[in-house]
Amino acid sequence: MCGIVGYIGKRNSVDVVLYGLGKLEYRGYDSSGIAVVVDKKLQIRKKVGRLYNLKSDVLKDHIIANVGLGHTRWATHGKPSEINAHPHVDSAESIVIVHNGIVENYVKLRSELLKFGQEFKSETDSEVIVHLIKRNYKSSLFRAVQGVLSEIKGSYALGVLCKYEPDKIVCARQDAPLVIGIGKGENFVASDVTALLPYTRNMIFLEDGDVAEITSEKVIVRDIEGNMKNREIRNIQWSATQTKKDGYKHFMLKEIFEQPQTLKETLRCRIYPSEGRVRIEGIEFKDEDIKNISNIHIVACGTSYHAGLVSKFLFENFTEVPTEVDIASEFRYGNPILNEKSLVILVSQSGETADTLAALKLAKSKNCMTLAVCNVVGSSISREAEYVIYTRCGPEIGVASTKTFTSQLAILYMLAFDWANKKGKLAEKKLKEYLNELYEIPLKISKFLNNIKLLKDIAKVFVNKRDFLYVGRHVNYPVALEGALKLKEISYIHAEGYAAGEMKHGPIALIDESMPVVAIAVKSRVYEKIISNIEEAKSRGGTIVALASECDEEIVTKSDYIIYVPKVNEFMSPFVTVVPLQLLAYYVAVLLGCDVDQPRNLAKSVTVE
Ligand code: AGP
Repeated sequence: MCGIVGYIGKRNSVDVVLYGLGKLEYRGYDSSGIAVVVDKKLQIRKKVGRLYNLKSDVLKDHIIANVGLGHTRWATHGKPSEINAHPHVDSAESIVIVHNGIVENYVKLRSELLKFGQEFKSETDSEVIVHLIKRNYKSSLFRAVQGVLSEIKGSYALGVLCKYEPDKIVCARQDAPLVIGIGKGENFVASDVTALLPYTRNMIFLEDGDVAEITSEKVIVRDIEGNMKNREIRNIQWSATQTKKDGYKHFMLKEIFEQPQTLKETLRCRIYPSEGRVRIEGIEFKDEDIKNISNIHIVACGTSYHAGLVSKFLFENFTEVPTEVDIASEFRYGNPILNEKSLVILVSQSGETADTLAALKLAKSKNCMTLAVCNVVGSSISREAEYVIYTRCGPEIGVASTKTFTSQLAILYMLAFDWANKKGKLAEKKLKEYLNELYEIPLKISKFLNNIKLLKDIAKVFVNKRDFLYVGRHVNYPVALEGALKLKEISYIHAEGYAAGEMKHGPIALIDESMPVVAIAVKSRVYEKIISNIEEAKSRGGTIVALASECDEEIVTKSDYIIYVPKVNEFMSPFVTVVPLQLLAYYVAVLLGCDVDQPRNLAKSVTVE
């Protein structure tokens, strides 16, 4: 997720763009850049690191220009560096672009351009776009941009400048937000309204497939075919803070609702259900490498550890490779039995968790293969591991991990299905089925998120409880742990997650009227078992909040509250059972007046032991 700002009009575009990028830093902050047109020449500045670095570099030269584009980056392809920062320019330095999104077919486009002798400067997918536009440019920037969009597969919010047409900005959007700000004798474009509110509240929200030509006096919107589109000008009343959160009260809530989109990005150009194919960039495991993996160790902390626990069921069920999951702070001081046939997977949103980084170093010292699943490109763990797969969720601002958990699952699931197929343990037909199930998960979550009133009501019922018990079985046992963690870390209520089968071994002593039991009881091979656990708890006065598969009637008589989730294959259920638990924790915490995005005593990344 990156931030884009553009301006054309009577002000100094440098000031407008730099201000706007500052408001969009929450969208990405590993590098930034700006391009302006001065005397029909492009001037481009790019800096790695926080926006401050760019600002101090640009402002010292007192550049004045009436048209400009800026970008603050959250790397997905190509590490954070000056050369990979946007804007990207063509070889003749005549056209410049800023891009937010993923060009799925950039490898193919890049090789075609290389065949025509095109040189590339960066490692990014985005750079192919500016060379395509340049190749297509005759005398109209708008038509040059419009003409290449059909070649680009993937997502894009695009801003384009051309030194031959310094009186306009061309922009386009597909699956990535872009808004045009309407001023008097000036116009703006940005990734979200936050960047534009001091200048205007009149906005045009571009829609997928839109291509717009912006001058200081006019905005023309067309579709890819060139048909005029009449986009409504909306007056935005949000405060600047609200708009960073797209109108959500907290980043955590926004990030919970982002999950359909972030999951789509995580899966994008990595799974091909109809072909029964998984292709993850940078993971060139040879088939024999996969066959030679004798054991898997997944090491992580907190929510990332819970994602690892879920994936253990996938790896062992589908690949039949023994899989251990360890808390990093225990792993690093234990004596894990590892060898060169061990694969150690480090799961870490921040890529900076001290214990997980230490575990990675221990694994490397024992000559293991190491694979990191991270969200932050260029983070310590992502650089230290032999292989890395990025979740591509964009910055997760809320301390409580939500969207990165479901994206971590998606990556681990992809690996399990792919490796099982390569080891001959999962037939192609089944592989296609599972990949298709995975592909449809974003829509299933989206459907669930359309109807969450019950969660707010349940939160009100239990807001004053002091203890909660979360129980689940099989792939939903780690989800019970995750639900308990969500509640305790943002509402400060004591909550325990337990394997439901453990109730008789102690926790059932806790059950009485004051102890709500959240039971994950979706249809699965262990459904009958969890139902009997629910009955045990109910017969001792416990209040049951059951997560059930839609249309399950049997559970109605067993529970006090039922949260229905979309019916999915049992192995896929963690994707849909974790979301209500994220929301339940959120609404309880809000009712208690807790600081949901920055809970007491916690940090987003635990970079010390
Ligand atoms: C979970 O909501 C917390 N944010 C915390 O448990 C987190 O998952 C843990 O600190 C691990 O962080 P990492 O994924 O960045 O390594």
